[in-house]
Amino acid sequence: MDFSFTDEQLMLQDVARRIAQEKIAPSAEHFDRTGEFPLDNIRLLGENGLMGIEVPAEYGGAGMDSIAYVLAMIEIAAADAAHSTIMSVNNSLFCNGILTHGTEEQKQRYVREIAEGTEIGAFALTEPQSGSDATAMRCRAVRQADGSFVINGKKSWITSGPVARYLVLFAMTEPEKGARGITAFMIDAQREGFHRGKTEPKLGIRASATCEIEFSGYVARAEDVLGEEGHGFKIAMSVLDAGRIGIASQAIGIGRAAYEATLEYVRERKAFGQPIGSFQMTQAKIADMKCKLDASLLLTLRAAWLKGQGRRFTTEAAVAKLTASEAAMWIAHQAVQIHGGMGYSKEMPLERYFRDAKITEIYEGTSEIQRLVIARQETGLR
Ligand code: CAA
Repeated sequence: MDFSFTDEQLMLQDVARRIAQEKIAPSAEHFDRTGEFPLDNIRLLGENGLMGIEVPAEYGGAGMDSIAYVLAMIEIAAADAAHSTIMSVNNSLFCNGILTHGTEEQKQRYVREIAEGTEIGAFALTEPQSGSDATAMRCRAVRQADGSFVINGKKSWITSGPVARYLVLFAMTEPEKGARGITAFMIDAQREGFHRGKTEPKLGIRASATCEIEFSGYVARAEDVLGEEGHGFKIAMSVLDAGRIGIASQAIGIGRAAYEATLEYVRERKAFGQPIGSFQMTQAKIADMKCKLDASLLLTLRAAWLKGQGRRFTTEAAVAKLTASEAAMWIAHQAVQIHGGMGYSKEMPLERYFRDAKITEIYEGTSEIQRLVIARQETGLR
């Protein structure tokens, strides 16, 4: 077993770290406060290959592997989680699904602009009444005599929805077939019948824009079907497997930022005549933070490695996402506690890490869904 990274992986990590520290970290508080979409920073990430890390160069990407993606995501998330959310959707949820299931024409048409960061992509699965129970979707795509589909319905909680040019949409083509009646479509937001709803006011990742999307008589041509008709649910699930590696990495970045701020604070802050880091109650928290971060990183790299080997990694991605997201939430919680009043103040980024960490336990499959995926695999029961 080899725990070292390649020169290429380390080079991408360096690029991500430089942009994160020079451009993203100094503007993170501004974007969190205003909720503005950080378009210039996203373009910069795209120019440096960070919006299509695993996309081959022929489609505009960096042509690197999943390990490089994990390392880069951690650096961006440690500076600002919202930027890493936008990055993860372009990389994992948008490009990955098209590269795996798309036609050559779809790859040429949709992947390049998203991988280069000149346009933003989105993934439209969730609906107002259908979150964890993804097969309960009501959005309908009805086949016409000429092979096209007319789409009607509402999608909600669409990350990057307010700014996305292209989306991967999941809609019911044969409702009586349940999961096997769902089809994936490529959507162009500039076509008729596409409407963006209100932007959601959120607790955290405030600079990543989120909204409802409504389809009313949107016409998808036969060539807009992604993969085979009726295979949409499996496409969504396999894309989310890869997406969960991205969210685990994001959680590690948030957790690491909270941990590093805490290490610095406990060395300097004095109480009862000593640095608070010399008290055993603080030391226990520091040790637990370190263990949780290391475990999260190793589990996430394992899932990314399996993906790179072309092997099934559904369970390992769920284990990584569950572990890393709960670790990030716990670490951010303890970091605020150790910082006391300063942890609660907007003058320091601790309260932002705390708010941002929470989403990693919710999106791309809640912690409850990750436990369900893992336990079904382990027990063989449903
Ligand atoms: N890969 C490939 N195929 C898969 C799969 C996977 N990971 N998981 C399931 N499937 C297949 C099954 O094999 C089955 O196929 P057959 O019909 O051929 O047997 C089919 O899909 C149906 O599977 P299940 O019976 O297991 O489906 P289910 O209804 O019990 O649901 C679930 C399973 C795990 C609960 C799933 O619905 C799920 O993951 N829900 C969570 C949804 C989610 O993560 N939403 C996130 C929204 S997107 C987002 O958050 C983006 C963002 O904002 C950034």
